[in-house]
Amino acid sequence: PRKLILDVDTGTDDAVAIMFAALHPGLDLLGVTTVRGNVDVEATTDNTLRVLDWIGHAEIGVFKGLARPVARAGLPGQRHYRRGGTMDPHGGALPIPEPSSTHRDTGAIEFLVETLRAATEKITLVPVGPLSNIATALAVDPSLTEAVDEIVIMGGGHAVGNVTASAEFNVWADPEAAALVLSAGFERLTLVPLDATHQALIGQDTCDALEKLGTPAGTAAARFIGKRIAAYDEITGGGTAPVHDVVCTAYLVAPEIITTTHLPVEVDTVSPLTIGRTVVDTRPQSTAERNAHVAFGADAAMLVKLLLATFGA
Ligand code: BDR
Ligand code: CA
Repeated sequence: PRKLILDVDTGTDDAVAIMFAALHPGLDLLGVTTVRGNVDVEATTDNTLRVLDWIGHAEIGVFKGLARPVARAGLPGQRHYRRGGTMDPHGGALPIPEPSSTHRDTGAIEFLVETLRAATEKITLVPVGPLSNIATALAVDPSLTEAVDEIVIMGGGHAVGNVTASAEFNVWADPEAAALVLSAGFERLTLVPLDATHQALIGQDTCDALEKLGTPAGTAAARFIGKRIAAYDEITGGGTAPVHDVVCTAYLVAPEIITTTHLPVEVDTVSPLTIGRTVVDTRPQSTAERNAHVAFGADAAMLVKLLLATFGA
């Protein structure tokens, strides 16, 4: 199985990604690091423990990470969601029992640095929250990239923003960290932006099918995705929602789920209007370094199939 570390800000979509990574037989989840993002880091850690306990995988270590961005204390100051209301797909604790396990004493940065330094085979990094932990680990030791075969990031948007008109939340919430990670020189960096995740929309019919599986993961996924559908439906009226983070873990076992183009990507860290924007250079004549495999498309039907198979077993 492919070894990976998930870095999360759990979060309803993170929760689905965690269950997928813990349960898919093709994946070996070495540990989960938490960061503030959708909610504060105490809550993302508590939510992460809830999820692993609920599916019977409390043995997978949870390592608490950073409570703030690397360079600016204020972000995310206010989410553009109405906290706790139905518009907020992450509001409050996840609707599953409180965890009985606790996070490890080792912090997220220490875990990342030690695990990557000690690795005898390459490890895949999958950050699906703000990139504060990953950037800080790389600041401690830039050569950590050598232990990583691929980093798969949920973040950014080329034609789509969510937290602002031009920025996606994970990148916007710690733009300096994202800039550092994008330019760190990873062997392969795959960026799964909103352009892709907004194509892998999940509807109530899939939630019903997940619920019918009768497994803890199926029941929880139905609840979490149902919460997302309720929130997105208020905005779009479409009866569906993206489940961003799970597209990254699904990609690890089914690379054809996304279609990517190898392009130069930089993060805007200076403009008040477009801070946190991922600037994707699609010009054929560009001579800038192509640092990211950017996903512009994702296959919703394939994602549904993978969710049902993985959570039904
Ligand atoms: C991303 O931001 C987080 O809030 C979600 O969990 C997802 O990773 C979407 O912009
Ligand atoms: Ca997330």
